[in-house]
Amino acid sequence: MNTHTAKQYDVRALNARHHVHPMADPKANRAQPPLILAGGSGCYVTDIDGKRYLDSAAGLWNVIVGHGRAEVKAAIVEQLDRLAYYQIQGLSNPAAIELSARLAELFAWEGMTHVLFSSGGGDAVEGALKLVRQYWKLAGEPARTKIISLEYGYHGTHFGGLSANGNAQYRAPYEPLMPGFTQIPSPYLYRNPWTRDPLELGRIAANLLEQEIQRQGTRTVAAFLAEPIQGAGGLIVPPPNYWPLVREICDRHGVLLIADEVITAFGRPGAMSGSRLWGVKPDIMAIAKGINSGYVPLGATLWSDRVAKVWEKTDPLAPIMHGYTYSGHALACAAANATLDIVVREDLPGNAAARGAELLARLAKYPECYPFVGDVRGCGLMVAVDFVKSQATKEPFTAADALPSKISQIGRSLGLMLRLAGPSRIVLSPPLVITAGETALLADLLDRTLDQALA
Ligand SMILES: Cc1ncc(COP(=O)(O)O)c(C=O)c1O
Repeated sequence: MNTHTAKQYDVRALNARHHVHPMADPKANRAQPPLILAGGSGCYVTDIDGKRYLDSAAGLWNVIVGHGRAEVKAAIVEQLDRLAYYQIQGLSNPAAIELSARLAELFAWEGMTHVLFSSGGGDAVEGALKLVRQYWKLAGEPARTKIISLEYGYHGTHFGGLSANGNAQYRAPYEPLMPGFTQIPSPYLYRNPWTRDPLELGRIAANLLEQEIQRQGTRTVAAFLAEPIQGAGGLIVPPPNYWPLVREICDRHGVLLIADEVITAFGRPGAMSGSRLWGVKPDIMAIAKGINSGYVPLGATLWSDRVAKVWEKTDPLAPIMHGYTYSGHALACAAANATLDIVVREDLPGNAAARGAELLARLAKYPECYPFVGDVRGCGLMVAVDFVKSQATKEPFTAADALPSKISQIGRSLGLMLRLAGPSRIVLSPPLVITAGETALLADLLDRTLDQALA
């Protein structure tokens, strides 16, 4: 055993012994040791044995400008040379100030003017949930505390976001969760009991929101929280009339609309935000992930002047009692400023729209080719391949079934990093800088992966 191999052996053993991985039983670490990654460049990552993989997941949706971007690294190093960190309670730093102004400019269409930094997506959602409760207290309607969200919704793993989560798998181990949270059915075209017609589904699903607001008691509902395209819970692309109808309903009942744009902000759906894709201006946005392409943890809660104005009148002062040690971390903000330069300069929303359309067109044939593929759907560079035990019944695979993880292993053996989102689906969410050639390669590798799985 040479020293290089011995070192790898130690790394694997130490990982199995000490390193607990999110969303996994700790002992699964021993039975199925994770791949250990050591390098990355552009749309590729490399493991500790030097094997290269095309990264179809962009890490966890977030590495939008690709791995190893020199401009982002330079911005972090430059900031590091000046001041790595100082807290921002009653203080500030130029990188955070510049970023807050940039975000207001980037999301001017959405009407966002105020920026509260956090350390990630779940934190940004918590900020939004607490903000709406405080808003209604200040606005003189303290009974408006309830949050309505969507089945299959994912809003992070803190108790607030988890209470809004629409998936029992995440909720059950940690119940009881917070009171005052309810979920309504999603506008899920592939799986719904009502209709195959998208616009009819949009109307039905939006009506369910109005019914829920009325059932709860209009003046007790603080906000509706949803992802413009549901990501982790199933990649559910709503019909185009859904969000405009949701906005109308929220307005009719004075309910605030929180768009969880943690995945969808900065171009992934083929527009600068999911809200903009649907032509809807939310009251509050939670953003993270693509904000600095995952180089340093960062998130933010954004809101409009309409929301901000209740704070203008408060006497005595009404501090926003929410924040983190790492809110507005200078290194994270510097990385974000460099990332957002790239997003705009390289028109990443435009590239996501073009490459996403090519990918979807290539994969559309899958349900005819593979009996275990039930549906292929997507929007921009958010594409899901749904696996089913039977196309007729649409029964999904469970964690006990071997096929989906087999597919992921075959992909890796061919040099394709695939991400299983739940036990019965792969989600393709490559870096937004992916080229047409790399998109075609991704589709080729996935064809070969599924061919081998079929064989
Ligand atoms: C829509 C959405 N909201 C919130 C989160 C939580 O973000 P984080 O994992 O950074 O806390 C995620 C993470 O995937 C997400 O997809």
